Amino acid sequence: MKERIDYLVELLNKANHEYYILENPTLTDQEYDSMLDELIKLEEKYPEYKREDSPSSRVGATVTSEFLKYAHSFPMLSLGDVFNEDEIVSFTERIKKEGFSPVYMCEEKIDGLGINLIYKDGVLVKGITRGDGKVGEDVTANVKTIKSIPLKLTKKIDIELRGEIYIEKKELSKINEERRKDNLPEYQNCRNLASGSLRQLDSSITAKRNLKSFMYHLPNPIDYNLYTQSDVLAFFKELGFRTNPDRKLCKNINEILEFIEEIRKERELLSYDIDGIVIKVNDITMQENIGYTSKTPKWSIAYKFPAEEVRTTIKDIVFTVGRTGKITPNAVLDPVRLCGTTVSHATLNNEDFIIEKDIRIKDVVIVRKAGDVIPEVVRVDLSRRTEDLEKFKMIEVCPVCGSKLVRKENESNYFCTNPRCEARHIESLIHFASRHAMNIDGLGERIIEDFYNFGYIKDIKDIYKLYEKKEELKALEGFGEKSIDNLLSSIEKSKENSLERLLFGLGIRHFGKESAKLIALKFNNIDNIINASIEELSSIKDIGLVMAKSIYDYFKDERNINMINELKAFNVNMEYKGIKIEHDDNFSNKKFVITGTIMLMPRDKIKEEITLRGGINVDSVSKKTDIVIVGENPGSKYEKAKELNITIWDEETLKKYLYK
Ligand code: IVH
Repeated sequence: MKERIDYLVELLNKANHEYYILENPTLTDQEYDSMLDELIKLEEKYPEYKREDSPSSRVGATVTSEFLKYAHSFPMLSLGDVFNEDEIVSFTERIKKEGFSPVYMCEEKIDGLGINLIYKDGVLVKGITRGDGKVGEDVTANVKTIKSIPLKLTKKIDIELRGEIYIEKKELSKINEERRKDNLPEYQNCRNLASGSLRQLDSSITAKRNLKSFMYHLPNPIDYNLYTQSDVLAFFKELGFRTNPDRKLCKNINEILEFIEEIRKERELLSYDIDGIVIKVNDITMQENIGYTSKTPKWSIAYKFPAEEVRTTIKDIVFTVGRTGKITPNAVLDPVRLCGTTVSHATLNNEDFIIEKDIRIKDVVIVRKAGDVIPEVVRVDLSRRTEDLEKFKMIEVCPVCGSKLVRKENESNYFCTNPRCEARHIESLIHFASRHAMNIDGLGERIIEDFYNFGYIKDIKDIYKLYEKKEELKALEGFGEKSIDNLLSSIEKSKENSLERLLFGLGIRHFGKESAKLIALKFNNIDNIINASIEELSSIKDIGLVMAKSIYDYFKDERNINMINELKAFNVNMEYKGIKIEHDDNFSNKKFVITGTIMLMPRDKIKEEITLRGGINVDSVSKKTDIVIVGENPGSKYEKAKELNITIWDEETLKKYLYK
């Protein structure tokens, strides 16, 4: 039986390659499906013969409750963006000045999401998202459903490579059309749809989404005797990957600009979305000599196309009230197609923005959208203003509760100051349950509004009391048993969240999710934060005084403390559980000195990484120093370290220990 399983695996994988990579099918769909069916049945019967590279994983089946974090062995860098010709010229001039005259590989910048693939012995073992560049999420089961990603390579090698997962424009239109019919919000663009599809907890959903891939980057080409980006791409192709044929080697700036122009003209006709052109020095040795900044390679840039624009009419200006009471004016537009979605609203930011651009109801305006940002009104087309339109006048009272609005000095926004304003309340509940905060699945905007209006949820603690009303909720029209059970279990699950989610969810003014992470990491639990002084809070890098004061004030308000105590009583976790790389033997209790320029990351960051692992940073080298990290152009500390025979780490060694 093993022979039959092996035979089917080999044959189906080959057919898959011929269909998705070579675009030259050799089996009919029925033949493929029936053999796959046979394979799945055999694997069920003889699980001991199931192979790691079996195409049965293409249909997806794994369901997980969350993705595990995975530290990249080589950081996934991003690219510096440029927006016009002059900046491209400066880039090439800078390289020329350093004494290089490279050939450039120009590639399309695919608007999908970056992926890191790891193969061992030629078999796909991991697919990891980019994450923050250092730590991503393990989405292997989902990646395996993508047909153009080989489960097994043509060579039995270990390799780690990067590329883009994307979805075609026609899929976006199709899925959005269905969502419109079902009254669901549309996906804003191909990138969001691709990312939403890849990050499904149920891989069988990913399998249905028709995701595609192009591979384009190898972090360590020299290890494979590859010395140019062209060779890297050819090697990928040879291994069985899809690479993008729309690319060009350019000898000079004119050829680069010509290529950009050529692709710009064709852009609309492409089956997938691109948001620019990536320009890379083709020669790998030259790349290494030109080097890196802490976040980006200096040998490559991304030219971004200007944002797409359309003309439409403003039908009305309406106002929303945010969770901090902030009033935002929005334009109601005559619906238009823009970047693949129907746009019917655009933000007008605030009063000053509207007055400066002299935007009036009934005006024809130019609306712009870049990436997934909210569409914005660029300007009024005054040539189309034929009648006398009334000048915009800011509202004076809250559109929801009728309280007087205030605009403080040095603020461009108006605020509703009524802390009991219903709109503020609903918005703060929506924020609390949202994805980056407590991430309560099934507790979206509409349900919160309904539950608020029915009186089930009036404030945050009521979310955790919902289970008491279980039977009542199940009887509500349009909900049903299953959805309420699911909702209650996601509420239950949210109690386990790490502290930063709760902190961010509280909706403290000026306080974003990254800052929440920093504070949670440093203070470890909510009580330490409640008791912290403004000085202690602002002593953290990246937490300014305004933010520190805002956090401090929030926890000085008795109502907020009461709420925290109520949540504690419901067993909502108040401790930091995030990634904490503790007491690594290579660092723990050792004294470190850094000298010279380290390309990997800024010095502050290296120090932070050392502290996180239990190491101690000191400024000068002495007999007590354990390790000296030496970058480019080191100073006298390096000499002293050699003199005292202290262990020296160069950048490579540091990298090895940080990302081991
Ligand atoms: S190269 C070290 N090439 O753009 C260089 N990136 O900020 C690694 N992207 O997140 C990237 N198309 O996901 C490269 N042809 C291409 C690309 C590309 C799209 C994305 C990538 C990354 C971002 C760069």
